[in-house]
Amino acid sequence: MRHIFENVFRGQTVLITGDTGFKGSWLAVWLLNLGANVVGYSLPPKNAKDNYVICGLSRRIAHVNGDVRVFDHFHSVLSKHKPSIVFHLAAQALVLDSYEDPLSTYSTNVMGTANVLEAIRHVPSVKVAVIVTSDKCYENKGWVFPYREIDPLGGDDPYSASKAASEIVTCSYSRSFFNDCEKASIASARAGNVIGGGDWANNRIFPDCIRALESETPIVIRNPEAVRPWQHVLEPLSGYLRLASLLYTQRIEFSGAWNFGPSRQNVVTVKQLVEEIIKQWGAGSYVVNSSEDGYKEAGRLSLDISKAVNKLGWKPALSFVQNIQFAIEEYKTDTLCDEEVFDQRVEHIEQYTKLSESLC
Ligand SMILES: NC(=O)c1ccc[n+]([C@@H]2O[C@H](COP(=O)([O-])OP(=O)(O)OC[C@H]3O[C@@H](n4cnc5c(N)ncnc54)[C@H](O)[C@@H]3O)[C@@H](O)[C@H]2O)c1
Repeated sequence: MRHIFENVFRGQTVLITGDTGFKGSWLAVWLLNLGANVVGYSLPPKNAKDNYVICGLSRRIAHVNGDVRVFDHFHSVLSKHKPSIVFHLAAQALVLDSYEDPLSTYSTNVMGTANVLEAIRHVPSVKVAVIVTSDKCYENKGWVFPYREIDPLGGDDPYSASKAASEIVTCSYSRSFFNDCEKASIASARAGNVIGGGDWANNRIFPDCIRALESETPIVIRNPEAVRPWQHVLEPLSGYLRLASLLYTQRIEFSGAWNFGPSRQNVVTVKQLVEEIIKQWGAGSYVVNSSEDGYKEAGRLSLDISKAVNKLGWKPALSFVQNIQFAIEEYKTDTLCDEEVFDQRVEHIEQYTKLSESLC
């Protein structure tokens, strides 16, 4: 059976920015499982229940506390560890926080990305970089059809605008400095809302639901009819890994922007999501409170994944119900030690890989 990542990660040094975060910590577990030497660069974890902490990653990877806004420090870490592959996930990742502190959102998400790319430009060991942004990088026109990589970038709230700007910085670096086969190959990856164990961010619907269910209080939802793409964190991560593996083996041909969204059946309303969570948790209730805050929340936005499906051979592997089942199991780890949590994550990764390979 063809391995979906072409076995490129075994023995490679791979640096992840944002390794203490939700997606970065899952990516670190996956890369360890693929035999990579993982280096992490980010701010310290925020919460004792974060995935990074409960998987015991501080003992398993070479983590460096640092701020991507400080070029010299990031550059020195990159020069020291000499990775061949970089995944840039460090970001201020929340829309509501971006309204509270737009400047630090812009400095982290825009200048942070510029610093990472500038450092890569000066460290020749790096052959591949995947810069992670968001589905929110597109100018949201309220279309009912999905957004393609060629659609205009934009963003009303500071987070969305920062992700669009990060895309422009990446495209500019790619065209100006990484445009021949001798240099690193650079791509950007755009995904939507993801779910999975160990995410405790505020104002994200899945962690908000779990907090309410654990405290036996009703889940409060703001926009029950808002339609969003929901996918387990392993879905976009498999896309990032597939993209990096093809960039590594075939280089510049795979540069550019890539959407990694769910299949159509996983684009459902907040209400449908919450009802499925309650069903699988086995208890709970919800109430609707539309007046909870005054900030604007964008309407429908979904991603067209034809490019990734046709050119990368990537496609989502989990049904809507499987996405929720994986995530609920991963949140129910309070009685497990970090070895057991790590093993559970690996088991889900292996189940996911089998499913993905069966679809190839
Ligand atoms: N989680 C989602 O639903 C989602 C959806 C779309 C896009 N994304 C994008 O995926 C990436 C990862 O998101 P996440 O959900 O893991 O976010 P997260 O908030 O869980 O983690 C963010 C990570 O970035 C690090 N970080 C933040 N500011 C930093 C700074 N100045 N210097 C160094 N490190 C810094 C944090 O320490 C943490 O490791 C982000 O680029 C985010 O915008 C996430």
